[in-house]
Amino acid sequence: MHTMTQEQLARFNKLVGERCDLFFPAAKQVVLENRLRERLLACGHSDYDNYYNRLLEEPEEMQNLLEGLTVNETRFFRNPAQFKALRERILPGMIDGRNREIVKSWGDETRPWKWGERHPLMHLRAWSAGCSTGEEAYSIVFTILDSLKFPRAWDIEITATDINRSVLGHARMGVYGNNAAKDITPDVLARHMDRREGGLVVKEFPARLVKFYESNLKDLSARRGIMTLTSADGLEAERDATGYFDIIFCRNVMIYFDRTAQARLVNTLYRCLKPGGFLFTGDSEPLHLFEHEFNVITDGDAVYYVKPS
Ligand SMILES: C[S@@+](CC[C@H](N)C(=O)[O-])C[C@H]1O[C@@H](n2cnc3c(N)ncnc32)[C@H](O)[C@@H]1O
Repeated sequence: MHTMTQEQLARFNKLVGERCDLFFPAAKQVVLENRLRERLLACGHSDYDNYYNRLLEEPEEMQNLLEGLTVNETRFFRNPAQFKALRERILPGMIDGRNREIVKSWGDETRPWKWGERHPLMHLRAWSAGCSTGEEAYSIVFTILDSLKFPRAWDIEITATDINRSVLGHARMGVYGNNAAKDITPDVLARHMDRREGGLVVKEFPARLVKFYESNLKDLSARRGIMTLTSADGLEAERDATGYFDIIFCRNVMIYFDRTAQARLVNTLYRCLKPGGFLFTGDSEPLHLFEHEFNVITDGDAVYYVKPS
């Protein structure tokens, strides 16, 4: 039986934090310990120092370790009060505002636009940060599509990112068990999903609007809003996400980070929003613990944050 000293455990904890901001406080260290033991045996190492060195040398093994450390629990329309606010207040306001700007821009020669072309203001960009198996990203796109009179006339882009490759594989397929139906109203289900033997699959149009990428929130914070996005075929692209998104969902992700990493991420998410853009966090991730510049909105049972215009 391999034993690990407290110093070794602390070293692993620090390394995982350095790579992806995940932090295991004393009460949760047993999760890290168990996962390390599993990987040590799987790799055929006999001591933890050798395994530590391997982690430093092999990014693939770091990824294997991380896949067993992240908590991936999620579901469609998780926190229904937030989706109600998105559907009933945020999107109608945003779409109206954009339509008004479009009308104002007619005849504005500095913003030339021809009839028959999509107006440059007809776009909506949302981000599911820490998307896990994709239910959150698809819930967002379903809600956006249902808020627009002519959804196909708009440029809708949902970016969905996670650090865990195996959940992204699941998310990209868009296939879920029948029990997912309990979280989706029958009319939304009928519009956006098909029933297949043994489960549900997201229809082609909403699925096409969601792009899943491997991306580490730690890197995004370190690079002040520059995203590194790795697609399914392993291609890496960079995006300057400064002022890019109308809506960000980053829920039940930073709860696993330490306070410093949380504060840094909140500031980075602020930077990535357009003025007037909205941020949703998880119920256990209130922002009042940090210094931030968001306005806080309490709307029924939902709390969310808006970047001042
Ligand atoms: C509990 S799930 C939350 C899923 C969804 N947002 C929700 O609230 O239902 C947390 C996700 O965050 C991802 N995650 C953790 N650390 C991350 C990091 N540094 N960068 C990107 N994703 C991360 C995990 O892999 C996991 O899939």
